[in-house]
Amino acid sequence: MKHFLGIEPLTAVEINALVDHAIELKAERSRGSFSTDLQGETWAMIFTKSSTRTRVSFEVGLSELGARPLFLNANDIQLGRGEPIKDTARVLGRMVHGAIIRTYSQEDVVDFAEYGKIPTINALTDEEHPCQILADLLTIRERLGGWEGKKVVFFGDGDCNMGRSWAWAAKRLGFELVIAAPKAFQPEDAFMARLGEAPVSLTDDIEAAARGADVLYTDTWVSMGREAEAEERLKILAPFQIHAGLVKLANPGAIVQHCLPAYRDKEICGKLFEERADEIFQQAENRLHAQKAILIALARSR
Ligand code: CP
Ligand code: NVA
Repeated sequence: MKHFLGIEPLTAVEINALVDHAIELKAERSRGSFSTDLQGETWAMIFTKSSTRTRVSFEVGLSELGARPLFLNANDIQLGRGEPIKDTARVLGRMVHGAIIRTYSQEDVVDFAEYGKIPTINALTDEEHPCQILADLLTIRERLGGWEGKKVVFFGDGDCNMGRSWAWAAKRLGFELVIAAPKAFQPEDAFMARLGEAPVSLTDDIEAAARGADVLYTDTWVSMGREAEAEERLKILAPFQIHAGLVKLANPGAIVQHCLPAYRDKEICGKLFEERADEIFQQAENRLHAQKAILIALARSR
C-alpha cells in the first residue's frame, strides 16, 4: 500500500491488517509504549476544509510516532491563490516524507500522490472519508466483535463521502449495508454501477432499514461545501433522523455511531446522542489509533 486514497482501492486483507494493527497500537499506547517508525520525518497536512478530529488525531499520531506534523491551511499557502496541486506536490515531495490532505476534489488527492511521489493520505474529500471508516471498523470490532454477518444502516445523506466509503467497505468486507435516505439523497446510479455487485441496498423506508440492524450510523445532513443547500436539505432529510424508536427495531446490543460533528435534533435525536455518547466518542478516539496504523503501513511500504 503506497497511498491511502480511499476504501475503494483497498483489499479486504489490507483493511483487516490495518484494523488488527490499530488494535495493537491502542493497547501499546494504554501501556505507555509507542512505536517510533516515523522518527525524524516531517509530514505535511494540507487542509482546505475545517477539522477537529482529523487534524488533532493526525498531529498527535505523527508526534507519537516520532514525526513532525506540518499543518498547512490551504488558504495560507499559494495553493489558495491558484498554484496547481501538482506543482504544490512537486515542491513538498522534495521536502517532506508524506502528505495528509483534506479537500474537495478526489482528483486533487490522486494528483498529489502521483506528482509528489510521497505517501499520501486522503483525510476527507467529497468522494470518500476512508480514515473515518477505518476508525469505525475498529469500533465495530471492539463493540460487536467484528463486522462479519452484521447489518450496518447508514441514515440520512447517503450520497455523501461517508455513504460512499461505507459502500466500498461493505463491498470489500462483505457485510450488509443499507443506505436509508430519501431518493434525492441516495447514491447516484453512476456510483452504484461503479460499485457493481455488492451487499448494499438503498431504501427510503427507515423502519424497514432499522429492523435487525447492528449498527445505526449517521452523519451531518449538510456536508462541508453544501452550506448553500442547508435549508432544503434540512427539510427533505428531517424524517431520516436516528431516534430511540429506530433503535428499538434494531438488534439487541446494536450500537449508534456518528462520525461527528453532530447536529443535535437534526440527523440524531439529542437525547439519544447523549445516551450513546460512550460509543460515539470511542469512535472519535479510534481515529488516532486507526490513523497511526495507516501512517506506519505507508512508511513501511516506501
Ligand atoms: N469526523 C471527522 O472527520 O471530524 P473532523 O471534521 O472534526 O475532522
Ligand atoms: N460528510 C461530512 C463528514 C464530516 C466529517 C462532510 O463532508 O462534511
